[in-house]
Amino acid sequence: MSSGFNTRAVQDGELRIKEFGNMTTPIFENSTFANPNESQNPATDHTRGKPYMYTRWGNPTLQSLEKKYASLDQVDEALSFSSGMAAITSSVLALLKKGDRLLSVNELYGETFLFFTRTLPDMGIDVAFISTDELNRNEIDLTKYKAIYTESIVNPTLGVCDLEHLGSRAAEAGSHLLVDATFASPYNQNPSKFHAAVTLHSGTKYIGGHADIILGLAGFSKDYLERIWLSRKTFGGIPDPLQAFLGLRGIKTLGLRMKAQNENAQALAKFLEQHKSVRKVFYPGLESFSYHEVAKRNLKGYGGMISFELKDGVPAARKMMKKLKICSSAPSLGGIESLITLPIDTTHASLTPAERAKMGIPEGLIRFSVGIEDSEDLIEDFQKALA
Ligand SMILES: Cc1ncc(COP(=O)(O)O)c(C=O)c1O
Repeated sequence: MSSGFNTRAVQDGELRIKEFGNMTTPIFENSTFANPNESQNPATDHTRGKPYMYTRWGNPTLQSLEKKYASLDQVDEALSFSSGMAAITSSVLALLKKGDRLLSVNELYGETFLFFTRTLPDMGIDVAFISTDELNRNEIDLTKYKAIYTESIVNPTLGVCDLEHLGSRAAEAGSHLLVDATFASPYNQNPSKFHAAVTLHSGTKYIGGHADIILGLAGFSKDYLERIWLSRKTFGGIPDPLQAFLGLRGIKTLGLRMKAQNENAQALAKFLEQHKSVRKVFYPGLESFSYHEVAKRNLKGYGGMISFELKDGVPAARKMMKKLKICSSAPSLGGIESLITLPIDTTHASLTPAERAKMGIPEGLIRFSVGIEDSEDLIEDFQKALA
């Protein structure tokens, strides 16, 4: 019988060395390891099944994190990266070559969109974009694409991808399905259960959980390990062992934090939805949201991210953000503290207004990462700021 999420989060992957009796994985701040390793029974690096040699290839602290994450996201194998973007770029470049075609949703994290529109075409990789709605209609012929890329909950408009149908269709078409599940986190969704080939996370967000590291993770079946590992080794996007240790410490409480954030976000979304100054709330857990039915089938919890628009647009949004006392104005998301941002100023600032319009991002959209503070306090903070 497989243990529960929190049991696995605490116990799995830890490197407990009998001789020391240490309960938590040590920080192996080593660039290199003895070669040949003369020990009678050397520990092996899961990336190669051989003794450790050089940290850009693999490291015991990273391995602990990778094993714990793999257990939580129900994947055979995982690799950690120096950032979410390193996980995304290394995985995509491991699977695509000149002449290949990639199908992607329009609604993407800004930097991923720039990678797909500015970098991949220069490398001879053609990217076709469609909306999450179009992808969810299941009418596209996927056999034309070597890979399909989606965010399971899109940033920042929070549309939900229907992985339940897409995953099996991509597998039948022989296309690699890559899913950025950063907003859902492994607590609310395991894309591998829907046949995603590669699951990607900005570990900077919910997995780290404390807004103190930049980290990436990719999870996949055994067939993908060598290709993605080679790509990580070549591009060099490896996390420092200290960074991996902090990710490892953060992920242990992912279940507790995510449960609180799911609950807080639901309460805040309901509060915002009935407020007279609010035009629209985007939240997968609201029945009024157009993706609610898809969300019910694809997510175990609706997550800690809410986006909303005020009736008086950008000026009112800026004014309200200045008045908030608990919730700070900053980009990023998924930490224990509530953060609020205007994507036009931060996450999607490098895109042109036309590109943002194509992604369905209203200029006045406010993105709110709900923390673990008490929901009554957060509601009061918004009540005052909106007044
Ligand atoms: C959905 C999503 N994917 C990927 C990234 C990139 O992650 P990182 O900043 O860790 O490189 C982000 C960053 O905000 C994100 O929101």
